[in-house]
Amino acid sequence: MDDLSSIKQSFLHELSLVQGIAGLDDIRVKYLGKKGVLTGKLKTLGALPPDERRSAGIVLNEMKVLMENELALRKQALKNRELEKKLASEALDITIPGNYTPPGRLHPLTQTMLDIIDIFSAMGFSVEEGPEVETDYYNFEALNIPREHPARDMQDTFYVSDDVVLRTHTSPVQIRAMQKRKPPFRIIAPGKVYRCDADISHTPMFHQIEGLMVGEDISFSHLKAVLEAFLHRFFSPDVPVRFRPSYFPFTEPSAEVDIGCIFCKGAGCRTCKTSGWIEILGAGMVNPRVFEMSGYDPQVYSGFAFGMGIERIAMLKYSIDDIRLFYENDIRFLRQF
Ligand code: DAH
Repeated sequence: MDDLSSIKQSFLHELSLVQGIAGLDDIRVKYLGKKGVLTGKLKTLGALPPDERRSAGIVLNEMKVLMENELALRKQALKNRELEKKLASEALDITIPGNYTPPGRLHPLTQTMLDIIDIFSAMGFSVEEGPEVETDYYNFEALNIPREHPARDMQDTFYVSDDVVLRTHTSPVQIRAMQKRKPPFRIIAPGKVYRCDADISHTPMFHQIEGLMVGEDISFSHLKAVLEAFLHRFFSPDVPVRFRPSYFPFTEPSAEVDIGCIFCKGAGCRTCKTSGWIEILGAGMVNPRVFEMSGYDPQVYSGFAFGMGIERIAMLKYSIDDIRLFYENDIRFLRQF
């Protein structure tokens, strides 16, 4: 019985060192297994004289209970530790800020286009589209632009073949709309157009929006009212608007429409070249020749048309001084809109 206390000590020592549940089983086997240290002691009880056997039995059994309890306690402690470790490694810190994906936004030209469409839609215009690769007929001929007209200059027009061009304006959509529809109707046609040109106010591709209203008694007054309403909504209700006589082959009479310079309020500055006015769009009454070519009787029908550059009016509205900024897609530029 003398070495019992050293057995107990080495048992407790080993128990304190063990780091995992598997190690615990090794200790149980070593002390309490069939060939265990304590089991061996218990087996020797039979050889003792009866009076010693009883007290030794009590001591050994207490020892066995103690070992079992210690093993159970240690097992629970190790289990707890493992659980804590697992929880810590799987922990999710819900206070960490998430990865922010900034929302995208519409390109300033798209925004401008949608603003323009909104204003005309409210006045009953519907949106019409036409092809960007266009025939000579729609882009020029049917718009009363004859072969020798300067607008056909090789420097301005991208020719795909002798009879096919990249449309140089959205005006051909006027012709397509007239062929498709029955008057009265009013349409706007936004889209890309192409001209062989590049500097701080020109890019080979840019955007225009065309307008056309046809009916039995559409007059210049309608044209004025619609364009003034548009310009007042788009720029500001008090911006002055003026119509200047001009020339376009597909309209007669034709006008160029100016607004009072929104930068100097008419006093004269660099943007308006000291004139106090800024040219905004071209317009006019549909030329009877154009009606005839599309099979409309000019004695019965009249109409007005207009066309404007979207880049140009976006540049004015947002004070942008270089058209190329629209296409460089520098995020610092785009974020401002
Ligand atoms: N198509 C002309 C251009 O690109 C703009 C234009 C002028 C359109 C007068 C029209 C108009 O509909 O009536 O320069």
